[in-house]
Amino acid sequence: MSNTLVVYFSAEGTTAKVARDYAEKIGADLFEIVPETPYSKADIRWTNPLARCNKEKFGNKDVPVSGRVENFAGYDTVYVGFPIWYGAAPNVVNTFCKGYDWTGKTVHAFATSGGSGIGKSAEKLEPYVKGAKSVDAKLVKSAEDM
Ligand SMILES: Cc1cc2nc3c(=O)[nH]c(=O)nc-3n(C[C@H](O)[C@H](O)[C@H](O)COP(=O)(O)O)c2cc1C
Repeated sequence: MSNTLVVYFSAEGTTAKVARDYAEKIGADLFEIVPETPYSKADIRWTNPLARCNKEKFGNKDVPVSGRVENFAGYDTVYVGFPIWYGAAPNVVNTFCKGYDWTGKTVHAFATSGGSGIGKSAEKLEPYVKGAKSVDAKLVKSAEDM
């Protein structure tokens, strides 16, 4: 087991590729954040006000995650990858983070986007990774940018 973990959520594959490539490059363990109910195409059509993604975002809803990271306590550095949704991490990432003890861990968030910057992603993630030693975040296009 590595002491570094790369966790990621990806609805459309872009963040998944970065996460996989980077984990392989640095020899880290990899965990995909999979919602208990996976997103269909219609679920993430944000142009539809009634789409699931909008209900979750604007209803501030938790999104239950399928499965758990084994031996989370054994990692001292955790990379957290996600697509920017509405200028921040998708709710499912926050729900995932709430389920673990982050005390003393170094957290590097990374995100892909359709054009938005990283914004306040690090600050917005902080309440969900309470006790982390440090949290930073960057926008990436590929594992080369990590
Ligand atoms: C519900 C939803 C909200 C999004 N909100 C933003 C946004 O605020 N800014 C942006 O630049 N891109 C936004 N995007 C585009 C994604 O961030 C971008 O396509 C990302 O690379 C997708 O990553 P994935 O393939 O790993 O899911 C949004 C996409 C979805 C589905």
